[in-house]
Amino acid sequence: MILLAAGLFVSLITFDVSPSYSKVLTKMDTLEGAVKDRLLVEVASMRLPGTEEEMVSLDQIMKAPVSLNQDDPRLIQRIRAKYLFPPSTNPYSLSSANSDPSMGQSKQIRHILGDKVKEGGFFIECGALDGETRSNTLVFEKEYGWRGVLIEGDPKNFEVVRKKNRRAWAVNGCLSTSPYPNVVMFKQSFNVGKISSLETGQNKSGYAEVQCLPLYSILLALNTTTVDYFSLDVEGAELGVLRTIPWDKVNIKTLSVEFIHGVEGKEALRHYMEKLGYRMYSEVTHPGGLANDYIFVKRELMPHTEEPEEHS
Ligand SMILES: *[C@@H]1O[C@H](CO)[C@@H](O)[C@H](O)[C@H]1NC(C)=O
Ligand SMILES: *[C@@H]1O[C@H](CO)[C@@H](O)[C@H](O)[C@H]1NC(C)=O
Repeated sequence: MILLAAGLFVSLITFDVSPSYSKVLTKMDTLEGAVKDRLLVEVASMRLPGTEEEMVSLDQIMKAPVSLNQDDPRLIQRIRAKYLFPPSTNPYSLSSANSDPSMGQSKQIRHILGDKVKEGGFFIECGALDGETRSNTLVFEKEYGWRGVLIEGDPKNFEVVRKKNRRAWAVNGCLSTSPYPNVVMFKQSFNVGKISSLETGQNKSGYAEVQCLPLYSILLALNTTTVDYFSLDVEGAELGVLRTIPWDKVNIKTLSVEFIHGVEGKEALRHYMEKLGYRMYSEVTHPGGLANDYIFVKRELMPHTEEPEEHS
């Protein structure tokens, strides 16, 4: 089987690059399980020759489920040029004076960080929704001057995010659940919008074609690999997103991760993070169901067991 896979891999490399990733995938569909997964990863990290023509096919690559390294300079450049919006310099345009609309996640993170919260930091929030409603990161930006990035897949929500004049970078795209960029049909539904399994290229009401980007590529586009807080709430795609992260190349200190919609269940999520050296600090729930998150902290940052802050 390995030999067959290796043979196929070589034939994929010698494939004429331009035409059909779909052909490659069809071939792959005949393989199974781990062999296929390994091959997919290998093909995904295949480097294409960097000629002028390649910039044309980069458009293809951005859409294809098989493509280039997460740190490919062309991908990083494309993200900077097209998907990354700088922090606003205009006054906030928020609908409430409440600087902490989070449903409890931000309080847990602040409790973990203690006085360090005042030293500044960098956050990621995905999905960012409208940039204000139940935002887990607004308080860090507004009260403590942190920088960060808001990532929102639904183009309608993203427009609203931009109008709030947050001091954070903003990305109009979804986080990829594969270690390469790809395009998906995104179900638009304010706070419960998500990546769908529909084929792209259709005009379907309530759906938008959205570019997904690997989180690591976005961080590289921002020249940063240190993250003090990562708020992840993507309606079931959480574990898929986490699995794309090259954990040895980034330093993500704390996370809140929604666990309620993941098909693999909350224990799989917890297990995955614990294996990476994180501690499950607390579970945040809300009587109205507006929070169902695990709070994770890097074990080395909190080697002693401390009682988490009480929460509702
Ligand atoms: C998509 O369909 C709607 C109505 O079904 C139509 O009004 C709209 O022009 C279509 N858009 C495109 C890009 O084809
Ligand atoms: C990251 O670094 C590159 C190269 O030095 C620079 O062009 C770019 O503006 C930087 N981007 C950010 C967000 O700091």
